[in-house]
Amino acid sequence: MRYEVVLPAAGSGKRMGAGQNKLFLNLADKPILVHTLLVFERDENCTGIWLAVKDEERPFIQALIEKHNITKVKGLPTGGEERQHSVHSCIKEMSAVDVVLVHDAARPFITIPKITELAKVAYEKGAAIAGVRAKDTMKVVHNGLIKETVDRESLWMVQTPQAFRYDLLAEAEDVAEKVGFLGTDEAMLVERLGHDIHIVECSYENVKMTTQEDLIFGEAILKQRK
Ligand code: C5P
Repeated sequence: MRYEVVLPAAGSGKRMGAGQNKLFLNLADKPILVHTLLVFERDENCTGIWLAVKDEERPFIQALIEKHNITKVKGLPTGGEERQHSVHSCIKEMSAVDVVLVHDAARPFITIPKITELAKVAYEKGAAIAGVRAKDTMKVVHNGLIKETVDRESLWMVQTPQAFRYDLLAEAEDVAEKVGFLGTDEAMLVERLGHDIHIVECSYENVKMTTQEDLIFGEAILKQRK
């Protein structure tokens, strides 16, 4: 299934504490952002890449794109205050396609077979997101006290890619903007429309580079995949 992908890359990466956009940090020999871009560059079903960027970082990102021969980038719109705004700026700028994937630029270990599966389910059913089962016992805590132990069987930790029929995501984003709803992922916006969203079991390796220890994990994944 052909698709275009939106990669929000306009964050500040405060939790990484690197003093710069964490996507520019190297994992082995390349910046995190380039690892992610190369996955989609190599996937023959990907027909376009949209990157939400900070204005001041656009020249550097354009230079990275050229240096690493990334040919599929169709636009680098300006990102927003929150991740949702960054994604929305890409959705508004692109032309309608059948399927659009949203993927954190900070998740460089996603694999092409998983992307293919997500795009196919989204095309057939409307919406599909990547996730993994919760591994630990999960509890609700208020003011330092356990309130409840939640049944782990029904708990998933969701990731990206999140794949949608373009029209569905565009409508969900527009509605969210109109009513001022802010979600932490795209699925939340689509859930509000009452649409079913399918979960596709992904891998614990599809980690988001968020804090320093994720870099150690990331280096280990790269070494093991060589
Ligand atoms: O901060 P976090 O890692 O959760 O962000 C997930 C992704 O969203 C990152 O790739 C980051 O660059 C991007 N982002 C964005 N615009 C924002 C905040 C985050 O494009 N305002």
